[in-house]
Amino acid sequence: MIRSVVRGFGAALPKQVVTNADLESRVDTSDEWIVQRTGIRQRYIAGEGETTASLGEAAARAALDNAGLTAADLDLIILATSTPDNTFPATAVNIQNRLGMHHGAAFDVQAVCSGFIFGVTTADAYIRGGLAKRVLVIGAETFSRLLDWTDRTTCVLFGDGAGAIILEAQEGTGSNSDRGVLTTQLRSDGAHREKLYVDGGPSTTGTVGHLRMEGREVFKHAVGMITDVIEAAFAATGTTADDLDWLVPHQANRRIIDGSAKKLGIPLEKVVVTVDLHGNTSAASIPLALNVAASDGRIKKGDLVLLEAMGGGFTWGSVLLRW
Ligand code: UT7
Repeated sequence: MIRSVVRGFGAALPKQVVTNADLESRVDTSDEWIVQRTGIRQRYIAGEGETTASLGEAAARAALDNAGLTAADLDLIILATSTPDNTFPATAVNIQNRLGMHHGAAFDVQAVCSGFIFGVTTADAYIRGGLAKRVLVIGAETFSRLLDWTDRTTCVLFGDGAGAIILEAQEGTGSNSDRGVLTTQLRSDGAHREKLYVDGGPSTTGTVGHLRMEGREVFKHAVGMITDVIEAAFAATGTTADDLDWLVPHQANRRIIDGSAKKLGIPLEKVVVTVDLHGNTSAASIPLALNVAASDGRIKKGDLVLLEAMGGGFTWGSVLLRW
């Protein structure tokens, strides 16, 4: 049985750090409110010349170096983003070109904060279907460019960045002891689309628009949707919370992360939290967190790692993999 095994990982952040104190001079907010309600202490914000493609390229190069590979070894690039450099072409082809790769294929997937889960799921389907051997999956975002910087209910929450992994086809036995992706679970329900959306687009207003969110409504649904896809991953593989080495959640809000872990009986020592450092970086948040925990030695080869996310759409999903 073919498995999609993580061969390398990497990440990239903009140069500029913006602290909660910095935001106090822009909108009516406080470090205390932001930390208490979200756990965020700082975020990185893209400056001149830094774009989704440039951050994605840097994360991709780091992942290639980590894997000991070059772009010549890849068959496919999947970029999860909701903040493309241009409406079209896909930012993935921009990154493909920046990497000097002119073979194979590259495309974007758009599932907002769940984008990385949707990207890994797509890559896994390509690999298990025999259509690709090595897939670079990137989550890269510049949400700062979609924010209404006069709206304190949203502008304090988000940040920019990129993370990437390389998935490689390897032969497995079909059991849970295999390295690689063991199960993926995807969901969406467009009935919730107006709770978290951007109020512009090429086919409606002809503008880029700004992010709008009913935060309390999103919050209300988050824990239930996250536990749904985690329980589905456990059911599909016959595993339980006790088997997990690490939970690497989408980093939107510390209270959502803690609430989901508690509901599932996952001790907080097994949860990777980076929301304090990066804020909510949408599709980039999970690969950024993976990069932190794999680089500092917490996530080791053979560990059972659960990824989950929930976001605009709504979309939500999970990936259970052995690192
Ligand atoms: O990534 C994908 C999905 N996104 C999420 O997961 C976000 C989900 N939602 C959340 O994380 C939370 O709902 C927020 C962090 C956005 C807000 O926290 P909350 O505890 O739900 O606060 P709230 O919206 O109920 O607002 C409480 C109060 C309000 O004042 P009043 O009406 O009680 O007087 C807000 O106006 O806090 C006020 N407020 C602020 N105060 C200081 C809202 N934003 C701020 C702010 N600084 N930045």
